[in-house]
Amino acid sequence: MAFDAFKLAVPGVRSLQPYIPGKPIEELEREYGVTNVIKLASNENPLGPSPKALAAAQAALTEIARYPDGGGFALKRALAKKLGVLPEQITLGNGSNDILEFAARTFVTAQDEVVFSQHAFAVYPIVTRAVDARAVEVPARDWGHDLAAMHAAITARTRLIFIANPNNPTGTWLRSDELREFLDNVPESVVVVVDEAYFEYVEESAYPDSIAWLARYPNLICARTFSKIYGLAGLRVGYGVSSPAVADLLNRVRQPFNVNSIAQAAALAALDDSAHLDEARRVNTDGMQQLVKGFEQLGLAYIPSAGNFVCVEVGEAGRVYENLLRAGVIVRPVANYGMPRHLRVSVGLVNENQRFLDALKKIL
Ligand SMILES: Cc1ncc(COP(=O)(O)O)c(C=O)c1O
Repeated sequence: MAFDAFKLAVPGVRSLQPYIPGKPIEELEREYGVTNVIKLASNENPLGPSPKALAAAQAALTEIARYPDGGGFALKRALAKKLGVLPEQITLGNGSNDILEFAARTFVTAQDEVVFSQHAFAVYPIVTRAVDARAVEVPARDWGHDLAAMHAAITARTRLIFIANPNNPTGTWLRSDELREFLDNVPESVVVVVDEAYFEYVEESAYPDSIAWLARYPNLICARTFSKIYGLAGLRVGYGVSSPAVADLLNRVRQPFNVNSIAQAAALAALDDSAHLDEARRVNTDGMQQLVKGFEQLGLAYIPSAGNFVCVEVGEAGRVYENLLRAGVIVRPVANYGMPRHLRVSVGLVNENQRFLDALKKIL
């Protein structure tokens, strides 16, 4: 009989749709023959990384014949100091996606259920189905997490809940009081991952700092990343913060050298450059205003976002996306998130935002 890989895969994997990343610039140039392409499709920092991080990455190149520090000693120590936790509470990841996967592999079996919201980050169903568990997608409310409905979806089989705050792609966010009330009512037999990939961008005063709650919720994991405001997406480094007991377990499923030495060095240097972070926040705030104003002038509805991206309702999004590609502008279609009328655009530099708005106006 012929080899049938699909038949051999665990049922959860067979049910998976591959993750669709933002189109790389080189691919668009190759396929469409356009030049001068701008990419506003993966929620990256348009300023790039801190020059200090770049210098540290370059310096680390001389040591790449050696394995990295598998324990991430220096980076964990610096993170612990900055966050006011113990190094034993930190798990380093190859991007924060790693942390999401560790949580599923550590706490969830094929008999269990994982709860997350409709329109939430695409990696939650992937890591759930990869361990063959049941994905329980809870209908969103006003594009955001409906915490009451998520609480009602908890059963005796629920082991893990993913909460994205702010959420990607919708940009919706949860206030401190509502998230605390939710956590207060989650049974301790359920682990909650609060995914804060865009934490450093949020400027709302009611936005929580969930790491400060770890003493109260031993079942909480906070996930953060160097991919977004720190501008190190290509190096792949993120981290989870939890109780030492949870971190000990997450670290057991982690590949020993999951964060490479260049990434560790760059992240360590990036952490200190608060001026670069302030500048990135300023560029984002101004750019978001520019985009939103542009949408209003075009009469387009958008979902107010606390992150470095925003979803705008353009109608036939597939067609608009294609036409934007032809104009050399890459944004993100979100039909795979159940949002066929929206496009997600990442906040870029002033001239990039303007090019996108001009192209959009022409197309519409
Ligand atoms: C909500 C959310 N969580 C996690 C991630 C993962 O990022 P990384 O693995 O690069 O840290 C992303 C990236 O887009 C995201 O949007």
